Amino acid sequence: MGRNKRIGFVPTMGDLHAGHLSLIRRSKKENDSTVVSIFVNPLQFNQKKDYQSYHRDTRADLSALRKEGVDMVFLPSDQELYPDRFQTTVNVEGLTQGLCGAFRPGHFRGVATVVLKLFQIVQPARAYFGQKDYQQLKVIEKMVHDLNLPIEIVACPTVREKDGLALSSRNRRLSISEHKRASSIYATLRSVALFAQSHPASAVTSLRQLFYEGLDLSKGDRVEYFEVVHPDTLTTLKKIQTPFLLAAAVWIGKTRLIDNLLVNRNSK
Ligand code: PAJ
Repeated sequence: MGRNKRIGFVPTMGDLHAGHLSLIRRSKKENDSTVVSIFVNPLQFNQKKDYQSYHRDTRADLSALRKEGVDMVFLPSDQELYPDRFQTTVNVEGLTQGLCGAFRPGHFRGVATVVLKLFQIVQPARAYFGQKDYQQLKVIEKMVHDLNLPIEIVACPTVREKDGLALSSRNRRLSISEHKRASSIYATLRSVALFAQSHPASAVTSLRQLFYEGLDLSKGDRVEYFEVVHPDTLTTLKKIQTPFLLAAAVWIGKTRLIDNLLVNRNSK
């Protein structure tokens, strides 16, 4: 690749869906060439079983990427990225303490480490991340800032199904009725956000209650967390004040789903 060509980079774990493709299309628009990586990163899984059962279909992924006209696909092996005596990891501290970080110890260390390695290998000018994984996006932004990496991080909006459910590789595990229940996550985040906007200074505990009441859960489903945080620091708010982020993780049966909704000062 020419020396002054700007590379746009989209790191993924494969099992590509329209959410991934939206990042790729944006990168294609904004850069001279686009590189996509597919690597199911063992370091970021808390449970071996979850890692082993992660859906892999490289053939389908490559055919989707060919259709998109991606310039290069990087498919490293475990051994290539984590050779035997690998000892170095990256830990972004404060931002990883709450939300998913509180329930998935080591997860963001695994994410930051692999993303830094991929950045070093691909050498992109820009890298694209989805707001669906909001905490991950903030962790990567912080790492890039703290370690002076010459990379622009581009945040891309969450792509959703018609019923509002955020696209995720995990959605394929949902039965039809689980899918229906899962779609109540975003619908409820929206109604909680509307309530919060029309009741400034309301207590977060009342929003949490609204969230629990609004969800359409069955036996075996459960809320892992619902938090209202500042969108930059991810510290929890006690009272509603814009800007704020509603963030939740909900188990629908055996599937863990996350979603969030950002309300800015001028959001309607
Ligand atoms: P993965 O879950 O494959 O997601 C790759 C990228 O696609 C992430 O930036 C994620 O936020 C984005 N994405 C996923 N679903 C989306 C949706 N519905 N709308 C918009 N963007 C969406 O996230 C990872 O992989 C890994 O942690 C990774 C960053 C590759 C490091 O291993």
